[in-house]
Amino acid sequence: MSQHRDMFFFCRSDFEKELVMELYGLFQMNRITADFIYENGCGYVVAHIHGDDANRDLSFLSCRNLIFARQVLGNGALLTDLPDTRRTEPVLSALKSIYASSEPLYKNLFISHPDTQQGKELAKFCKKFETPMQNGLKRLGLKKVFSRDDIPSIHIVFLDYKTAYIGLSFPDCSSEFFDGIMRLKFPKDAPSRSTLKLEEAFHYFLPKEKYREYFRPTFQAVDLGAAPGGWTYQFVKEGVFVNAVDHGAMHPSLMKSGLVAHLEEDAFNFQPIKGIDWLVCDIVDKPSRVTKMLVKWIKKRECKWIICNLKLPMKKRYEELVKCLHQIVSEGRIDSSQLLCKHLYHDREEVTLFVNLSK
Ligand SMILES: C[S@@+](CC[C@H](N)C(=O)[O-])C[C@H]1O[C@@H](n2cnc3c(N)ncnc32)[C@H](O)[C@@H]1O
Repeated sequence: MSQHRDMFFFCRSDFEKELVMELYGLFQMNRITADFIYENGCGYVVAHIHGDDANRDLSFLSCRNLIFARQVLGNGALLTDLPDTRRTEPVLSALKSIYASSEPLYKNLFISHPDTQQGKELAKFCKKFETPMQNGLKRLGLKKVFSRDDIPSIHIVFLDYKTAYIGLSFPDCSSEFFDGIMRLKFPKDAPSRSTLKLEEAFHYFLPKEKYREYFRPTFQAVDLGAAPGGWTYQFVKEGVFVNAVDHGAMHPSLMKSGLVAHLEEDAFNFQPIKGIDWLVCDIVDKPSRVTKMLVKWIKKRECKWIICNLKLPMKKRYEELVKCLHQIVSEGRIDSSQLLCKHLYHDREEVTLFVNLSK
């Protein structure tokens, strides 16, 4: 497929700077020059790659490798000054050039907008654009083949009525979810909305084909900062016993399950329990303090897996995060592949870490 110069990254609104810092570091490491187009709060970053660099292998920019990108689109172009009518024409002409030297096939067509208040105002307009675009793709000779997993999907992201990014998502580099958003239904009997953060983390970090291996009835978890119990709920649902550490009250329904021991202790002084399987932590505190506690647990190797939120409300949140990640790897004496970090859809001013000590 011919290379085009603009890549597109969705992120949570107000995290554009962090995404740019992350991208900039990766581009520099790979000696690729690019300009970044974004505004604070816009919910996306466009990377305009210079000259021949656009023809290089950019697979290091996969969604899995990036903390702050929800979705990664490539081989594309940013179209500005779209006309007020017959917008399909410039869009189809861009697609014709994107597909110039490749099989005229696509898996799906997605027409969307950034996940911001301003973006949402374009929702109806995007919907209306679907039928003319599908007809246009047929005219262009592009065939939809839903059954194949090795072909790209086409994305049209309207940034406003006059500007759109046209690009492709590739199964290896992109999120499988529409715009990179894992939408989950809030379980009515869960004690807090936070439950969705851990549910998303499980689905994101644990391999689908081995999912059951992480939740055996004999397993035990420690949940630091557990009250009222949204995270504990996720383990109880799977039949895993939880030591819930918090001075706050746990929801009575969880206590009735017989699968929860409520330990009214300070999480930072709590000594690692021997032979547990899971450690999770959702405490609102300085990332440096939570990191120090995590390192204590990791060094003792008393659990197999850790999921922990690091809250990032400060100004230099990217620098602070990088410092914490380095500290976990170096002081915890783990391989960097054992530590994963993602700004999940249900995370706000925080990121989620997964540490795999079972390797
Ligand atoms: C964001 S809430 C956790 C929500 C929980 N994960 C859920 O899904 O319901 C943070 C919790 O951490 C607890 N916490 C804060 N500092 C703590 C400490 N030093 N030791 C134990 N718990 C602490 C608070 O009492 C609060 O219940």
